[in-house]
Amino acid sequence: MSSLLVDDIGELVTNVAGSGAGGPLGLRRDVALLVEDGRVAWIGPTRDAPAADRRIDAGRAAVLPGFVDSHAHLVFAGDRATEFAARMAGRPYTGGGIRTTVAATRAATDDDLRATAHRLRAEALRQGTTTMEVKSGYGLTVADEVRSLRIAGEVTRETTFLGAHVVPAEYADRPDDYVGLVCGPMLHAAAPYARWVDVFCERGAFDADHARAILTCGQAAGLGVRVHANQLGPGPGVRLGVELGAASVDHCTHLDDADVDALAGTARPDGTGTATVATLLPGAEFSTRSPYPDARRLLDAGVTVALATDCNPGSSYTSSVPFCVALAVREMGMTPAEAVWAATAGGARALRRDDVGVLRPGARADLVILDAPSHLHLAYRPGVPLIRRVLHDGVLL
Ligand code: NIG
Ligand code: FE
Repeated sequence: MSSLLVDDIGELVTNVAGSGAGGPLGLRRDVALLVEDGRVAWIGPTRDAPAADRRIDAGRAAVLPGFVDSHAHLVFAGDRATEFAARMAGRPYTGGGIRTTVAATRAATDDDLRATAHRLRAEALRQGTTTMEVKSGYGLTVADEVRSLRIAGEVTRETTFLGAHVVPAEYADRPDDYVGLVCGPMLHAAAPYARWVDVFCERGAFDADHARAILTCGQAAGLGVRVHANQLGPGPGVRLGVELGAASVDHCTHLDDADVDALAGTARPDGTGTATVATLLPGAEFSTRSPYPDARRLLDAGVTVALATDCNPGSSYTSSVPFCVALAVREMGMTPAEAVWAATAGGARALRRDDVGVLRPGARADLVILDAPSHLHLAYRPGVPLIRRVLHDGVLL
């Protein structure tokens, strides 16, 4: 059994409420953290730190749980930089470009797709993301969805079947047939490689009836539910997700009072937020020049909020959670503490995980050492590479 001591931590974000000052972040000062066999084994005052095989000196910096990015699309080919440039020149985002990436993805070799997924996963890890959800959804044939999920499974255990991303061109005039394919042979082939099922429930993609059919089939196949909901306009996605007990409804850019009430109505009996998490993806609003979701309204209603990147070549080509934290604080009414919680513990809740997003004995030893004395600096110093070291599964990178 090998041990590692992270010593002389100035500020530790534990996300264990009540374990110190600092509200839900559970801030502790002047502590050390012992890792044994990939798990946190002990946290206590620096002066009481036990001996360990290895020691790393945090030099009084801030340490926090590794980021939990609960929404990303890493299996694709090509990029859409020119589409981005057109948007910045005034063209709106409609989601229509998804089919461009589907064509490129189908034409790519397994090795090309694998190289991109691994490159982006490594890029995210360097920026502190120790847990990452990865979706299929740019294949949209049985074979291409299965290979997308197999490749996703090489970089994460949090894999999501998004066969219902859009109706592919060859089914454009018979969407019912495509939904039949997704619920039947595609789900059957994909389910062994997926933990979650997701649908893009939006005008121009899948309506409430189609989305309900697909999510219900996915649930029957043992998959947990998540939904792309209310991104481009008001719609039924959020309430459908709540109705089906989704772990998360994602985007939540255009909400009415009934949507917020529905989310708030999933309050957990122990008073620790909601069972359905609202995952906000400010990289998408940044990159599509759209109004940001109102995190303040959700938080004030008691809804649990997560922040994630939505990393994908169309609407949000960033793998940086710190960038999303900064946007959420500046543009979405979140405090720095709320945003840091949302990007760590919130992401874990969106994935129904209690072993990540938190630092307490028994949790996975996934953490980041900042080049800063406080978590506040993540929003206070936007665009600055503040991730000094990353510990993933107890291994120092
Ligand atoms: O989450 N909204 C649907 N899917 C992605 C966008 C994908 C794309 O434009 O390629 C999203 O924003
Ligand atoms: Fe997405």
